[in-house]
Amino acid sequence: MSRQFSVAVAGCTGAVGVEMLKVLEERNFPISKLKLLASARSAGKKMKFRGEDIVVEELTHDSFKGVDIALFSAGGSISKEFRQSVVDAGAIMIDNSSAFRMDDDVPLVVPEVNPEDVKKHKGVIANPNCSTIIMLVAVAPLHKAFGLKRLVASTYQATSGAGAKGMEEMLVQTRQVLNEEPIAPNVFAHRIAFNLIPHIDVFTENGYTKEELKMLNETRKMLHDDSIKVSCTCVRVPVMRAHSESLNLEFKTKVTPEMAREVLAKAAGVTLKDDPAAKVYPMPVDASGQGNVFVGRIRQDISRDDECGLDIFVAGDQVLKGAALNAVQIAELVAAL
Ligand SMILES: NC(=O)c1ccc[n+]([C@@H]2O[C@H](COP(=O)([O-])OP(=O)(O)OC[C@H]3O[C@@H](n4cnc5c(N)ncnc54)[C@H](OP(=O)(O)O)[C@@H]3O)[C@@H](O)[C@H]2O)c1
Repeated sequence: MSRQFSVAVAGCTGAVGVEMLKVLEERNFPISKLKLLASARSAGKKMKFRGEDIVVEELTHDSFKGVDIALFSAGGSISKEFRQSVVDAGAIMIDNSSAFRMDDDVPLVVPEVNPEDVKKHKGVIANPNCSTIIMLVAVAPLHKAFGLKRLVASTYQATSGAGAKGMEEMLVQTRQVLNEEPIAPNVFAHRIAFNLIPHIDVFTENGYTKEELKMLNETRKMLHDDSIKVSCTCVRVPVMRAHSESLNLEFKTKVTPEMAREVLAKAAGVTLKDDPAAKVYPMPVDASGQGNVFVGRIRQDISRDDECGLDIFVAGDQVLKGAALNAVQIAELVAAL
């Protein structure tokens, strides 16, 4: 019989945690025992896995005895607090937060992009930022074929990117606007219903937000190329689920839309949605619940005199491929080590 793993999910009641359980079940991950962990608020609650009720336990430093793989999605401060306990227990931590992504001893992995980096782990593997994952599933195969020089991205990020509370805030505010009731923003800096907010994570000294700089730094780390230039504007939009991105790409060699389509049609994790005449292009409602990243609107960049630029549009479910699915795919790579 092939090896079975004792798995813990920390943050099991959250937007990402709930999806992790579904993905573990759907992909039939070889689990001998599943431990569900969340805050004291959720302890005692029951969640279903493979038809069985599992009782949620409070996350403590003793939670990881006998655990082989610990999937974390409870926020960066929780990951930092429990990292040592996970490693001391001999488990491998796969972390969804931004806590360790840029650490030299922590591989940052998208299985379709840099699966071999998993081998370098020293007890912790990080899941990249959700917008970066969605972008790189589409961009990495083009980079491999044509050599990416520079990338300019604008994102359209769903409210679920801020967790279960983010989705709830959009729904509550939408009702409040329709009922002409007063609105008090809480999760987001401003009203999100019937609005958009060009502000995700905190601002840094150079005027970019941390979210925007994650897309630069994580791209360079995963493509192993510090010469790639990246500039981003990250925007929260009143979409429930799935992030979209407009990407302007500059390559070292000439590339036509046909050449790009040929590469992307064969790329793992990509679904081409590129038939504008039939009104087929990537949209968040279609990408929601899908593991693949949708790519379309592939055009030659007409602002250039050479043929080295492309514009593309992507949409991907950031709770799934941007978090839960990517983490479980990493666990599959770990299981195969
Ligand atoms: N949402 C996304 O699209 C997305 C994408 C990529 C990465 N991530 C990352 O994934 C992590 C979770 O995000 P989310 O969107 O799933 O958030 P969420 O919906 O707010 O869920 C947070 C989870 O963390 C648990 N938690 C909070 N405080 C805790 C504590 N003191 N001890 C133990 N558990 C605690 C919560 O348990 P209770 O229910 O008991 O409070 C809940 O299970 C974050 O690091 C986030 O940056 C999210």
